[in-house]
Amino acid sequence: MDAVKAAIARPTGSADRLFHLAQADMQGVDALILARMQSPVSIIPALAEHLIAAGGKRLRPLLTVGAARLAGGRGDAALKLAAAVEFIHTATLLHDDVVDSSQLRRGKVAAHLIWGAPSSVLVGDFLFARAFELMVETGSQKALEILARASRVIAEGEVLQLTRAHDLKLSQAMYLEIIGAKTAELFAAAAEAGAVSAGADERQAAALRAFGHSLGLAFQLADDALDYGGATETLGKNAGDDFREGKATLPLLLAIARSGPREASFWERAIGRNEQTEADFRHARALVVGVGALEATLDLAADHAETAKNALGVFPRGEWREALESLADFAVSRRA
Ligand code: IPE
Ligand code: IPE
Ligand code: MG
Ligand code: MG
Repeated sequence: MDAVKAAIARPTGSADRLFHLAQADMQGVDALILARMQSPVSIIPALAEHLIAAGGKRLRPLLTVGAARLAGGRGDAALKLAAAVEFIHTATLLHDDVVDSSQLRRGKVAAHLIWGAPSSVLVGDFLFARAFELMVETGSQKALEILARASRVIAEGEVLQLTRAHDLKLSQAMYLEIIGAKTAELFAAAAEAGAVSAGADERQAAALRAFGHSLGLAFQLADDALDYGGATETLGKNAGDDFREGKATLPLLLAIARSGPREASFWERAIGRNEQTEADFRHARALVVGVGALEATLDLAADHAETAKNALGVFPRGEWREALESLADFAVSRRA
């Protein structure tokens, strides 16, 4: 399909390179995650394990570890922060799937459909709290400050998005503000916290923060494109979720703007009033692809990936820098 072709035409990257370099660090992070998701309240580890054992790409802790290594960190100082970052992410997924009524996550039935929304939300709170315990243990006031702010900004982004659903005329600026808060802020914080743990100077920490921010924007833009152009089997979550929720993402906003007056009543019904039939997503997807909205979204994602890579210019070339650069290309070319 066109979206796949468009993605293939761009620089492809992979997370493998960084994973390979960070293998030992990531084993340490996984061990921490496993140990700290435990609780005597048995539903907590059961529910958490359902999601955590399903995998996930572990991109954010990888970013923390990679940033720390690129900034010259030698010890294990970044590992607890990386585990905290993944816990924050996991907590937001539990909350997000309740808010979005999503049925599939990481290729498995969403936790709220098994244990109910209340347990899912509360275990999300538990994981948030675990993240803060880990951060406090590092004794780094600065890292605590960075990740506490990110936790607040993510919540603001999710609430802002909620209030802007079904808005057919949402501006691109407001859309970017939403994804900057709900997604890019944690990528930025993950990278900056890693840098801080390595004792990076302000210039290096700011560069890694900027890298994470642009990478996060690219990542969410691609995610929003994949909701129309991707396949449920590879995504591990249902394609079309954003459409069914009436979420005003860029592919949708561009399709609405470009598809002309003949489709106005379709968008008004399906998104504005959220009155949908089974066939509507297929029609919407055809329009999104047909008017080039998917490709335009991926183009913007690629621009942000370039900006991300440029931010690393303050560091000398080397394997860690190249592995992080490859992650930026992966954010755009990924199918999962
Ligand atoms: C999902 O993030 C939430 C978004 C910001 C789109 P990921 O795609 O990184 O989720 P996992 O951790 O790999 O499952
Ligand atoms: C991801 O939001 C951001 C957070 C979870 C905070 P989405 O709702 O766009 O992500 P998916 O598509 O459910 O993974
Ligand atoms: Mg969601
Ligand atoms: Mg999404």
